[in-house]
Amino acid sequence: MMKQNLCTLAILIASILFVSCESDRDGANGSTSPGEVSEAQIDSLIALMTLDEKLGLIHASSSFTSGGVPRLGIPELVFSDGPHGVRHEHGRGWHALEDYDDEATYLPVGISLASTWNRDFGYKYGEVLGNEAKERGKNVLLGPGINIIRSPLNGRNFEYMSEDPFLTGSMAVGYVKGLQDQGVAANAKHYAANNQETDRHNIDVIVSKRALHEIYFPAFRAVVQDAGIWSIMGAYNKINGQYTTHHEYLNNEVLKGEWGFDGVVISDWASVKDTREALLYGTDIEMGTELLRDFDNPVYEEFYLANPAKEMIESGEVDESYVDDKVRRVLRLMQRTTALSDHGPGKRNVEEHQQVALDVAREGIVLLKNDGLLPLDRSELRTIAVIGHNATRHFAERGGSSQVNALYEITPLEGIQNLAGDDVEIVYAEGYEPYYDESLFADITGDAASQSRENLREVELARSANEALMQEAIALAERADAVIFVGGWIKGHEGMPWGEGTYDAEARDKLNLKLIFGQEELIRQINRVNDKTAVVLMGGSNVEMENWLPDTPAYVHAWYPGMEGGRAIAEILFGEVNPSGKLPMTFANSHEDYPSHSIGEFPGDGTVEYTEDIYVGYRYFDTHERDVYFPFGFGLSYTTFEFSDLNITRQGDKVLVETTVTNTGERGGAEVVQVYVHHKDPSVDRPIRELKGFDKVHLEPGASATVNIELGESAFMYYHPEELRWTLEPGSYEIQVGNSSRDIKLTGVVEW
Ligand code: BGC
Repeated sequence: MMKQNLCTLAILIASILFVSCESDRDGANGSTSPGEVSEAQIDSLIALMTLDEKLGLIHASSSFTSGGVPRLGIPELVFSDGPHGVRHEHGRGWHALEDYDDEATYLPVGISLASTWNRDFGYKYGEVLGNEAKERGKNVLLGPGINIIRSPLNGRNFEYMSEDPFLTGSMAVGYVKGLQDQGVAANAKHYAANNQETDRHNIDVIVSKRALHEIYFPAFRAVVQDAGIWSIMGAYNKINGQYTTHHEYLNNEVLKGEWGFDGVVISDWASVKDTREALLYGTDIEMGTELLRDFDNPVYEEFYLANPAKEMIESGEVDESYVDDKVRRVLRLMQRTTALSDHGPGKRNVEEHQQVALDVAREGIVLLKNDGLLPLDRSELRTIAVIGHNATRHFAERGGSSQVNALYEITPLEGIQNLAGDDVEIVYAEGYEPYYDESLFADITGDAASQSRENLREVELARSANEALMQEAIALAERADAVIFVGGWIKGHEGMPWGEGTYDAEARDKLNLKLIFGQEELIRQINRVNDKTAVVLMGGSNVEMENWLPDTPAYVHAWYPGMEGGRAIAEILFGEVNPSGKLPMTFANSHEDYPSHSIGEFPGDGTVEYTEDIYVGYRYFDTHERDVYFPFGFGLSYTTFEFSDLNITRQGDKVLVETTVTNTGERGGAEVVQVYVHHKDPSVDRPIRELKGFDKVHLEPGASATVNIELGESAFMYYHPEELRWTLEPGSYEIQVGNSSRDIKLTGVVEW
């Protein structure tokens, strides 16, 4: 009888919840809007739930859902990867469904987005993802990826954004707002210091609190405080001895305490390792696979936050209020998103989404070297040889969880063919191919092989050019008026045996930055027979350059530029678009030059010491005056810009930086004004410069614009290593204004 009454009450309360949403939809209830949270309704619902029902809400119920409470009308939450496109459909299982209508817009990857330095694109990018996720019935989109690029070898750098926390945070804030405005929760990942894939499930990152707060946390803090993000993903790694997904300091003290995060901490897939810690230290939903003994008959009750948690609560070891807090957060997220609120229909594969993919690709591609070859003048060329495997390769698939079933993907060769015009003949040769000498491993199979990193290194050495393809390409290059070489890294390892270290992908790091599959030799040979060779490289990082760059007249870095990437590359090569991308990471010659390798450790062994501390990327290269090929923030244009009239004014706790930029060349183009801050006489070690503001301006030839950038107090602070708090040290601060970290054009001083 009692049970029956409860049920009636439950249905009543659930219906209140829904009626409120329904009336929002009709606009009849002026007091709430879609996605508005009612804490009172949440409390009433929690009061009606059994412990089992509560626990059902905080762990997986299939590969990409967490449980609901059917009795109370609470649905499952539906998740999807990923950061640059809504992933293939998996249904409830662990494999992509075949012949499923899940084609989606494939945007340029995260590092391309960051290379635009255009905040408007952050929002538009998120808006595309939000609409497509909503149309596919998703409530949480697992992006953006905002880990700091600590080493160029990290296999997932392409999913992330930058070596700089301010640039990462600035782009991610727009992304999160654009996504969540559609009623789909963003999920910033992976919190925190998840900077390598090697040993990713166990590696213990040894890092100072100062480095956490100055380098590895700020982008997460920005999406919490400046974008109001609704969920965060805990990482696989440990930090200073404790798994990040249930980390007392990271989750309880910093994220939910200091930053006031009221959303949901979702585990990475199988990153929960301990029930008690997960209950106490801030994990709100446990997702993943590791505990499934039989993928075809999954028993989700065995998850850490299922039966083991129930036992702990029932025995009194952990108070039920910890579960209530998690449930409250989950219900809050449901009310905010399409799970329990109507945000209107989504849309997918529409032209405006493809336009965003194109716009981001155009501004995210970076021109790094140009001895005058580019843009190519089509009226003067009869034959162009396009050479390289990547000119015809598709990149949306493969690479791990970020893969997308792209509606289409324009390859560089197609883009060039489409734009070359009738009077230019385009000839193509593959030049090299992904190549593995499997015979070296004929007698090593299964686990023994995958454990044998040393053997894999041998494969690195064995990898070489395909002589026949190379000769064919050289012959073509010799008779062409110009050559466009398209190469670099490839994305993904699926179906490629023994490929460790040769590609960008989840769960793998690269072994070094050497150009793979004999491309270095190929570029050298092509340069020898044709001095009009433009090199276009793909990839989530740089490559070693000393053996080919000096003789190469033009170099364009295209990252993985999305479904419209081939078109954008061609437009830049032919001058229909003036490049304006800027590097979000320093391009040094070898991975060994990076502080994570030369001072700290990478990938470590069990533990990895971040001895370089806050000196990541240009903070290290610039402070210690190390040679690099292309500095942070660098990128060329087909026009020229002049910076003038720097004015710096202090207004209370704000500093206004004003400068004029003039396009002094013959073409319209865009320039990024970068503002770096430097304390002139700090009492603690501080970098020579730190990015604290930027703005991108588009200018017609001869036009000028005044750029105003506001710096708040926080732009001048450092995290005190002993007192463990943000500190504003009085003194003189130099404001450095330039268009890369190594090209500071104007400086001024402000006193605090
Ligand atoms: C990855 C996450 C991803 C999740 C779900 C994990 O292995 O690290 O980034 O969102 O899988 O596919």
